[in-house]
Amino acid sequence: MEAPALQQRQSLHDSFERQQKFTSLILPHGAVTAAAEKNPMAAADYCPSDIDELASTRTASPTTTDFSSSSSSSDDNNSTTLDTSVNYSHSSNTNTNTSCPPSPITSSSLLKPAYPLPPPSTPLTTVLPTDLKTPDHLIPRDPRLIRLTGSHPFNVEPPLTALFEHGFLTPQNLHYVRNHGPVPSSVASVATTTVDEENEDSLLNWEFTVEGLVENPLTISVRELIDSQKWDNVTYPVTLVCAGNRRKEQNLIRKSKGFSWGAGGLSTALWTGVGLSEILAKAKPLTKKGARYVCFEGADQLPNGTYGTSVKLAWAMDPNKGIMVAHKMNGEELHPDHGRPVRVVVPGQIGGRSVKWLKRIVVTQGPSENWYHVFDNRVLPTTVGPEESGEKTEEMGRVWRDERYAIYDLNVNSVICEPGHGEVVSLRGEEQGETYKLRGYAYAGGGRRVTRLEVTLDQGKSWRLAGIEYPEDRYREAQDGDELFGGRLDVSWRESCFCWCFWDLEIPLSELREAKDVCIRAMDESLALQPKEMYWSVLGMMNNPWFRVVIHHEGDTLRFEHPTQPMLTSDGWMDRVKKEGGNLANGFWGEKVPGVEENIVKEEPVKEISMVDEKVTRLITLEELREHDGEEEPWFVVNGQVYDGTPFLEGHPGGAASITGAAGQDVTDEFLAIHSENAKAMMPTYHIGTLTTSALAALKTSSTSDPALSDPNRPVFLQSKTWNSATLTSKESVSPDTKIFHFTLSHPAQSIGLPVGQHLMMRLPDPAKPTDSIIRAYTPISDGTSERGTLRVLVKIYYASPTEDIKGGQMTQALDALALGKSVEFKGPVGKFVYQGRGVCSVNGRERKVKRFVMICGGSGVTPIYQVLRAVAVDDQDRTECLVLDGNRVEGDILMKRELDELVQGARPEGRCRVKYTLSRPGEEWKGLRGRLDKTTLESEVGERDLRGETMVLLCGPEGMQNMVKEVLKGLGWKDEDVLVF
Ligand code: MTE
Repeated sequence: MEAPALQQRQSLHDSFERQQKFTSLILPHGAVTAAAEKNPMAAADYCPSDIDELASTRTASPTTTDFSSSSSSSDDNNSTTLDTSVNYSHSSNTNTNTSCPPSPITSSSLLKPAYPLPPPSTPLTTVLPTDLKTPDHLIPRDPRLIRLTGSHPFNVEPPLTALFEHGFLTPQNLHYVRNHGPVPSSVASVATTTVDEENEDSLLNWEFTVEGLVENPLTISVRELIDSQKWDNVTYPVTLVCAGNRRKEQNLIRKSKGFSWGAGGLSTALWTGVGLSEILAKAKPLTKKGARYVCFEGADQLPNGTYGTSVKLAWAMDPNKGIMVAHKMNGEELHPDHGRPVRVVVPGQIGGRSVKWLKRIVVTQGPSENWYHVFDNRVLPTTVGPEESGEKTEEMGRVWRDERYAIYDLNVNSVICEPGHGEVVSLRGEEQGETYKLRGYAYAGGGRRVTRLEVTLDQGKSWRLAGIEYPEDRYREAQDGDELFGGRLDVSWRESCFCWCFWDLEIPLSELREAKDVCIRAMDESLALQPKEMYWSVLGMMNNPWFRVVIHHEGDTLRFEHPTQPMLTSDGWMDRVKKEGGNLANGFWGEKVPGVEENIVKEEPVKEISMVDEKVTRLITLEELREHDGEEEPWFVVNGQVYDGTPFLEGHPGGAASITGAAGQDVTDEFLAIHSENAKAMMPTYHIGTLTTSALAALKTSSTSDPALSDPNRPVFLQSKTWNSATLTSKESVSPDTKIFHFTLSHPAQSIGLPVGQHLMMRLPDPAKPTDSIIRAYTPISDGTSERGTLRVLVKIYYASPTEDIKGGQMTQALDALALGKSVEFKGPVGKFVYQGRGVCSVNGRERKVKRFVMICGGSGVTPIYQVLRAVAVDDQDRTECLVLDGNRVEGDILMKRELDELVQGARPEGRCRVKYTLSRPGEEWKGLRGRLDKTTLESEVGERDLRGETMVLLCGPEGMQNMVKEVLKGLGWKDEDVLVF
């Protein structure tokens, strides 16, 4: 009996098939469609029994593979026919010359396809144990795939030998996968759960839009897309390659920001879908209005928004480029990991442009602003190291956005697949003149063909030419109008190459015996040649130096060693050489070459920012420091150096309190934890001397200057100069990544002691290095003036994502991991703004009267805004008006919505306080504002500056949003003094 999940998937698939009127008969286009048109269910019946065996075999294939039980599959019964006659697979090599090259296929018969057909994929019915605890816990996957980033997210490559042995087309379940995060739940949920009509419909009703600078915006459902009456469905093979393919080699030279792919980060499939050029032609891009780019957006929810990217409009409109919106892969519906139900496929370009789970196509003037377009898939100049690339400077922002560094077309690359890593070859046949056939793959980008593959056995002194086979060319020979998997086989007219090719070269064993290694390089038709040296870059992409396999002579055998292995193992000659002390960057793969001077590339030292003025020589005693521990001329100590904070009392973004709170103290930890590199670079200006050694020791050992500040019975919890502990008593989840942390203070009557609009500092030991601490500023949601005995802090947790090399928030993850009952230290208040009530506030100690607050926030930036709104709204005597603009992505991201709504409704007189939410990705039901907090929204909701100076704008949110809002407000005439950024 079939497993229930299997039946369910089968039923979904059958229905999908019906909708698509699919047939995979290899028949002239007209014949099949004519039959199918009359009766969609008749397509299979139309196949006359005397038709080629293969054709009838393939009829069953798309409807049964992946979903069928293997024993009854007609594919299985006939797969030998496929494998031996048409599938372009590689039989394994031996050290004699008996191994057969993939036999050339001739296109003679109308009914016998001359081109490779996909091997049936293995039915996947079981969810692997490793996936069960992840958000992808409903997705069955192939256990052979090698996981590169732990169990989740799913980033995998097939073992190189298995990939190569499958030949030209990779079965869907063995195709590499690059998922930045979880598979969208709407798609994953139909992987194994009950597939009822509703679920079936949800995939067929899945819609994507074509919008932006187009005359005729479109919303296209999958149901429509697969209907060949409405859209011209086409099928052709495309090799997708992850830009990180072979990255492990780069990581061994110098750690890049990406995880380690081996040489299996690529796969080839027959894709069926509709040309993007056709879709765009219907939407009519407004080129006269500056339409130049096409942005794609997927449905996956990632730490930095949805996954999205863009390509140039001119490419997208060019049918020869072959960009497609695909709904079938090897004749099967897309597996959830590959973008079910629809994705973009961009041939010849890095896989990162082929957006999965497609939701939006937006025609724009400029390239995509999506985080993954800007901060991923780029080859930055080698001068940018991991540290610089993380800097939040304007200059670095420009570098990331520089389109010259974005990568599109793949670069030329090649790999040796046979001999495989660890393969041992006997030399016994040497005297009989036996040979070994080296084989592998090669590819180029942008539709360009690989024109030569050269092999060297003497490290580049001499080269030999390998044979190259392009199985893709077999499709060009197909009959015009051939239909495959419900799409017109659309290859014959193309000049471009969208796929990998295979190369081979026979080498006499006697010559292999003499060689230390074998290296290969490919050249494409633009004469681009793989370099000998690696071009290291910070994201570790497009790695394509010569592929080198080392030969070890062991008695009568040769053992081959590849550069790396795609696992967390240290297998491969690169790691070995490194461990042996070799310098991999010496131009000779780390080997000592006689007569050649070692060209040692020095590791770049990590840039240290100097915080001292070298000219300052004064020694400062403890007594002198203590004389400056108040609000007048506050001095503080960082790394044993003394700084005078007086000149910065006004301008400090944290307000004067953050400096006076540090006065007379060693604040090294908190200073280093919360200050940017820019702030550190300003420090020499305030440097006045070095603390004497005895003073530093005394300062470190002395506890607080006043024991009363830590007395558990003190009435006020927060102290500006002393860290005091509170106990974590509960964690309350308010959204998938946000929690309210409840702390108990020293006694039930203790007040928090936090004026409205101010923040506190939180300190935790670093779990990775308990001698260090992590310090961050937060605005609690508790009423800091009236609440007693408890403290509630709302914190958005920034979870790690190894795939994007995102370490996650150090503090937020540590807090999230903290056990209940543990204590956390607090200090404060800090901040330059205080709302005193009834229209009076103080900014940097200066009083200011306001009649109206415009409060703009996003995400967890709502917390200080909530504080101020609460103070204004609950006091009926307060006549201040408030408008809160809260921008988020989806409704679930709005934090504290109920609380904000209640405050607004309760404020008197009615209408005195208002809150407006805007969503950049609203659901259909959403009744609030739509779109980002951008120029248009701000112009209509905030408008021009209040010339009487009675309105203040309070702003808190992600940095990008803050900068954008400040910029727009500036354009609307608002002055700096009117806008306060928390
Ligand atoms: N599309 C979405 N929506 N989300 C993603 O994480 N990854 C991209 C691209 N499209 C990605 C995406 C990357 S980097 C690659 S290499 C390809 O998908 C991989 O496609 P595959 O997983 O089907 O092999």
